[in-house]
Amino acid sequence: MKQGVRHRIAVIGLGMRLGMFLRAARAEGWDYDIAGYVDPSPVGVPLLTEQGIAPGAAYPDIAAMLADGPFDLVMIGSPNHLHLEHLRLALEHPGPVFIEKPIVRTEEESFEAARLVRARGEGRVFVGLVARSAPIVRAALERLDGGAIGELISVDATEHLPPAHGAYLARNWRRRGEWVGSYMLDKVCHDFDILGRMIGARATRVASFGGRRIFTAEGAKTARDEGPAILRRLSGWNAAPDVSGKDMDVTDHQVAIVEYANGVRLSFHSNTCAAAPERRWNLIGTRGSMLIDLVQNTLEITPLDSRSPVERLRWRGPPGDSHGGADQAMARDLVAALEGERAFPVSVHASLVAGLTVMAIDRALAENRIVECQPLWTALDSAEADVAA
Ligand SMILES: NC(=O)c1ccc[n+]([C@@H]2O[C@H](COP(=O)([O-])OP(=O)(O)OC[C@H]3O[C@@H](n4cnc5c(N)ncnc54)[C@H](O)[C@@H]3O)[C@@H](O)[C@H]2O)c1
Repeated sequence: MKQGVRHRIAVIGLGMRLGMFLRAARAEGWDYDIAGYVDPSPVGVPLLTEQGIAPGAAYPDIAAMLADGPFDLVMIGSPNHLHLEHLRLALEHPGPVFIEKPIVRTEEESFEAARLVRARGEGRVFVGLVARSAPIVRAALERLDGGAIGELISVDATEHLPPAHGAYLARNWRRRGEWVGSYMLDKVCHDFDILGRMIGARATRVASFGGRRIFTAEGAKTARDEGPAILRRLSGWNAAPDVSGKDMDVTDHQVAIVEYANGVRLSFHSNTCAAAPERRWNLIGTRGSMLIDLVQNTLEITPLDSRSPVERLRWRGPPGDSHGGADQAMARDLVAALEGERAFPVSVHASLVAGLTVMAIDRALAENRIVECQPLWTALDSAEADVAA
């Protein structure tokens, strides 16, 4: 990473995610000082201090922190229901803002965020859809854009989480829709962002089935939980004491089918407690197939006229890294964007489209019907065109 520029940053919501990201970014060579943070119970602080990174001053509120600016970057890593409010406050500060995914939680918040960014944040809001920076995703996009598998016809995608990850979701604030939005929104907005980019069109109609059959009072007896020490350390803000799902109201497994405007059809299978974890996108085109395995970090291309892959690539992330080198790559992308060297790989618009696609899936599940997506795109386009926000 380019040396010589030391960034002064301010953090709203110093939880696990920003703790992990900031320490990966420091290890990658990003030279920054955290001037301070606002967080009622900052679970990410130990992640920084154990690496010798000072978290800066604890401020009582965002206005007090921003008054101590200017900052080179304000970072938002709070739970999802606070994102819109925190984005609005952060945009009071004139500098760049990084906000974790999903940028917001509901359809109305999406249109509001579109108006807000259009009015006050154009070109200075970066959304942490970290998978966009992943080396494997970049390579896949390059090959798809180069026509490696011809015209895309259909896609089969999965995310099957290991039991301990599902147990974490069932204890953490992600167990409740009022805070998280939905399980699929929080967990697979990355996938729908990238798949939407690969497919090159917006969704036209969606259907979905799902529910909660894993993290229940009965299921908790057999769930593979990680025990109290990890629970205290990782579960964080408004955590539940166990994985019985007592006040959980989001799904723990869900399937969806999506048809896109260019005729591409996609199925998605998600599950939060799979003995054999899997995160895989299988893209089938007129001239071949591309299999992207995000657990193994491998990419395979098999042409239609061949019995086996002609290209097989494998990436290895840095030791202890859970995103296949994407956190480090996003740190480089973020610094390059702050320095005006290149555009950040994902736009606010794309993050809103990805979120709204998953929200349509959740609406289809909740209302037990096929949801037509065009009204969402009309509303998004008009919010983005609205400069009077
Ligand atoms: N890009 C990724 O791969 C990725 C991975 C994990 C999480 N995330 C996103 O990052 C965000 C944070 O997730 P997390 O896993 O760090 O959760 P977390 O619970 O570990 O951290 C959230 C933090 O926000 C704090 N908080 C709560 N109320 C607040 C308030 N009013 N003001 C300021 N801070 C407040 C909590 O005390 C906590 O420290 C979420 O939006 C999540 O979806 C992204």
